[in-house]
Amino acid sequence: MCGIFAYTGNKGKEAGKILLNGLLSLEYRGYDSAGVYMPESGSVKTTGAVAELRRKLPKDFKGTSGIAHLRWATHGEPSEKNAHPHADCGGEIWVVHNGIIENFKELKEKLSKAGHTFASDSDTEVLAHLVEEHLKNQSAGGGSSSGGKNFEKAALAALNEVRGTYGIALQYKREPDRIIAARMGSPIVLGLGDGEHFIASDPAPILPHTRKVMFLEDGEVAVITPGKHRIFRLDSTTVKRKATEIDWSAEEAQKGGYEHFMLKEIMEGPEVVRNTLRGRLIPAKGFAKLGGLESVTKQLQRIDRIIIVACGTASYAGQVGEYMLEGHARIPVEVEIGSEFRYRKAVVNERTAVIGISQSGETLDTLEALREGKRHGALTLGIVNTVGSTIARETDAGVYNHAGPEISVASTKAFLSQMTALALLTVFLGRQRGMTEKEGREIALALKELPEKIEKILEQRGAIEQLAKKYSKNRDFLYIARTYNFPVALEGALKLKEISYIHAEGCAAGEMKHGPIAMIDGNFPTVAIATKDSVYEKMISNIHEIKARKGPVIAIATEGDREIAKLADDVIHVPKTMEMLSPILNVVPLQLFAYYLAKEKGLNVDRPRNLAKSVTVE
Ligand code: M6R
Repeated sequence: MCGIFAYTGNKGKEAGKILLNGLLSLEYRGYDSAGVYMPESGSVKTTGAVAELRRKLPKDFKGTSGIAHLRWATHGEPSEKNAHPHADCGGEIWVVHNGIIENFKELKEKLSKAGHTFASDSDTEVLAHLVEEHLKNQSAGGGSSSGGKNFEKAALAALNEVRGTYGIALQYKREPDRIIAARMGSPIVLGLGDGEHFIASDPAPILPHTRKVMFLEDGEVAVITPGKHRIFRLDSTTVKRKATEIDWSAEEAQKGGYEHFMLKEIMEGPEVVRNTLRGRLIPAKGFAKLGGLESVTKQLQRIDRIIIVACGTASYAGQVGEYMLEGHARIPVEVEIGSEFRYRKAVVNERTAVIGISQSGETLDTLEALREGKRHGALTLGIVNTVGSTIARETDAGVYNHAGPEISVASTKAFLSQMTALALLTVFLGRQRGMTEKEGREIALALKELPEKIEKILEQRGAIEQLAKKYSKNRDFLYIARTYNFPVALEGALKLKEISYIHAEGCAAGEMKHGPIAMIDGNFPTVAIATKDSVYEKMISNIHEIKARKGPVIAIATEGDREIAKLADDVIHVPKTMEMLSPILNVVPLQLFAYYLAKEKGLNVDRPRNLAKSVTVE
């Protein structure tokens, strides 16, 4: 997803260098083109990587302020012409933008009639022309550009005219040290330095310079100069906001010695589960303590139904949560994909809790689904990894994952932490609703043992790498499982397709005979999750059905299960845990399998084509 970074400083630092380094730390969001503008030097854009942008910069590209952008195409193909920053007719007003200007066509028409000429197909460009038009009208009315007031007024007028979503940074050539930022649905963070200020779409590029940040809310505008920052609303009323100290280290966002962020993040699994559990379990009493939900204790007692809303991997965590919460806390749960829920007329009322699960906390479809729930009076909760993100701030209460920043586009450690948080929620709500102390204790103890068990799976990564090599020529895979692990089959297939571009389908093993089994032959391997649980025998029957059609089978089986090796072509063993928690173990070999397969194919594992880390458009 697009990334914004802007800088203004009076410390004699080279802004170009700061801006390019900032873009590098935003690369993980996924992008197709990059660009930078500095009032003293002009603009340079490129399709492709930041490294290419760096190569293209002339030697004398220097200055003390500027705006920079990584673009992920929404309107107009990925090309240099459509890359940001975009400018007005005079090349004086420059803008970088995340989001979509929904009324750009009508604005473009109006501006074209007024004599503006457009250089790109991008919706963003209208913003620069709109500001230009307002500035022109002001000077026609006799205004002077003292202290940037006219630029601010023009920017505000333009922002009040556009509809849609935006996170933007605007700069005016004649006032080089002033940058205006605004937010409507797309995140914007201010970084507060000493004699320098920053604007970015997330804290990553700001952290090497300062830990002091401020998050803009929707409908807010910020103006930064080297020595000052101000926040106000679109109606010009002043906003007073306290700075937040971010405690991530910049190193946390580095690869930590692994070849890819994805592997690093898979290897962090044990620590991540420990961090999600830390301070939240009282095993002796079979309780879970979730401080983030204390403020809504009474409302939680009133709810009679939960709707989980999420997208992609987070939605599969939600499906595991459905099995956990219904199976052990006995609360009716439905899981809805954010993009579906937001547009259908679901039955929601004040006795419903709508829980949004999101690593980034910015996924627009999940956010809008939560807002839809709120409109109908539901209690809204978040299971979110990114502190201070929009979902974290807009929900009534929630549980943070504490998984640390996830850089690789493919979600791995966040998935583990989401399922762990859902297990905690199951104990938390279950104990309020008739779960016995014995059952609570059993889950709590099993949860505590998970990190060591994940470590045992990670030790087998060499063998899993060999397996990936063996199957790297196959073009199709089927993933099957039942009950708690059915969502893990879906997740295993998603992981494989998103980073290796190999066709993979996840299916409930019982559904195989209703269609998918027709695909099976000697070239169509099946990954079968068949750990020792209540549906083990059923899974064994399904594996027999596949073998009868000569389909190769890779089984995920419980340690000590020797019988399955007689049936399956390859077996990955995982430690035993209680059935409810088995997804948290069983997904790990599937993540490793997908990783090594993509690596074997020489693909860009951390930044798969066409995908973005944070999906802030619908
Ligand atoms: O940030 P979120 O958890 O809300 O993101 C949801 C999905 O976009 C995300 O899980 C996506 O499916 C990943 N690429 C999966 O690896």
